[in-house]
Amino acid sequence: MSTSPRARSPVDSGALAPPPVLDLRDRFVTPPSPAAELRAFTHGLMPRTVPALMAGFCEDWAERGVDAWNRVPDRWGLGHDTGWWSMPEDLADAYVAPMLAAPAGTCVLQPNVHWTVQALLSCDGPFEGRDEVVMTEGEFPSVRHSVQRWAGLRDLRPVDVSANADWAVDLDAIADAITDRTAWVIVSHVGFATGEVIPDADLRRLADAAHARGALLAVDGYHATASLPQDVEAIGADVYFGGLLKEACGSSGNAYLYVRPGLDLRPRLAGWFADAEPFAFAPAPADHPEVRRRFLGGTTAVASMYHAVEGLRILLDVGIDAVRADTLAKGARGIERADALGLPLRSPREAARRGAMVVFEIDAADRLVRWLKTQDVYVDARRGRLLRFSPFVWNPVEDVDRLFDAVEEALATGAHRELPEIDEGGPVT
Ligand SMILES: Cc1ncc(COP(=O)(O)O)c(C=O)c1O
Repeated sequence: MSTSPRARSPVDSGALAPPPVLDLRDRFVTPPSPAAELRAFTHGLMPRTVPALMAGFCEDWAERGVDAWNRVPDRWGLGHDTGWWSMPEDLADAYVAPMLAAPAGTCVLQPNVHWTVQALLSCDGPFEGRDEVVMTEGEFPSVRHSVQRWAGLRDLRPVDVSANADWAVDLDAIADAITDRTAWVIVSHVGFATGEVIPDADLRRLADAAHARGALLAVDGYHATASLPQDVEAIGADVYFGGLLKEACGSSGNAYLYVRPGLDLRPRLAGWFADAEPFAFAPAPADHPEVRRRFLGGTTAVASMYHAVEGLRILLDVGIDAVRADTLAKGARGIERADALGLPLRSPREAARRGAMVVFEIDAADRLVRWLKTQDVYVDARRGRLLRFSPFVWNPVEDVDRLFDAVEEALATGAHRELPEIDEGGPVT
């Protein structure tokens, strides 16, 4: 087993002690008991309302046909009818903007983060007289790979910032990397491999450092989405994006983008749905007057939008502060158990810097994860030696104990090491 340089201190479950523990199992379709599904960071459980909404999609399509693009009944608590054409904005105004503490008119649904990042990089404005994109080595491939691919398309230079010796985001190094050549600084609100949260005050410091040099700050908020309070104005983000598939339980095809009011971004990667006059079918494109609408592509995938905000509706209803206190409390229980087994922690111990996900180091993590599945406990492994789990609003604390009881057994018996090396379970872990 490898050792961690991170100093050990008492487990920190945040300021709210004793923390309230949520049990929202009745709001989601849970796997048959006793499965302990601890992978909210990959794909959230399905809210119970989703089948009715998908039936609603079929009904709207069957009954309204083409006219559903103009008007469908309000199935989302919007307080007004919407239409397939305007759903990316209407749902974002009603649920994404309040989640981000953003003004109405600044957010739009997106198909995925990869599309959004490509569209951002296709905007000429931020690159006028600038050619660098500063990002951390811990960014998700939707960011990192996109920046590298665009490096060949426009004269762009990726500037990588390494983590510090504790695997934490090195905020000073990011600030130092920002120069007069920097167009964008891109950082994750919560690291996908560490669960590390960058607190708002630190993001604000990065925003100020970027702005002082004329650069823009983009924040990838995927793992913050609906699991910790997000306040784009407090952060000073110029753009903030994320997805609704994971902790937000909105399934695939659903991501979102916020653009700060007044920031006149004009993506080249845009489709006719983003055009100022789409039904003029003009020979040349024209940017839509509303900046957020410029980030639409071709015909939007309507079916996925029907379930986009169902998870958000539940989580915003109980309150993101309550969700945050809940995940911290359950995560702290996991850390206590990992400590007792001598397993080095990879995620921050400090509550203010720890997201919903907890990561610890363990040998043969891949096989252990496969063996845990045989025990009806679902977590995942990264790079063969990191085990990630995320107790979320549907997990009783006992699920965390079941995970660590099983890990303890595997460590004692070596049962997982007897599994064949080849995993035939499929590519997704
Ligand atoms: C931080 C982060 N950003 C982006 C993504 C993926 O985004 P998409 O598949 O929508 O491109 C993930 C997926 O795990 C992620 O963890």
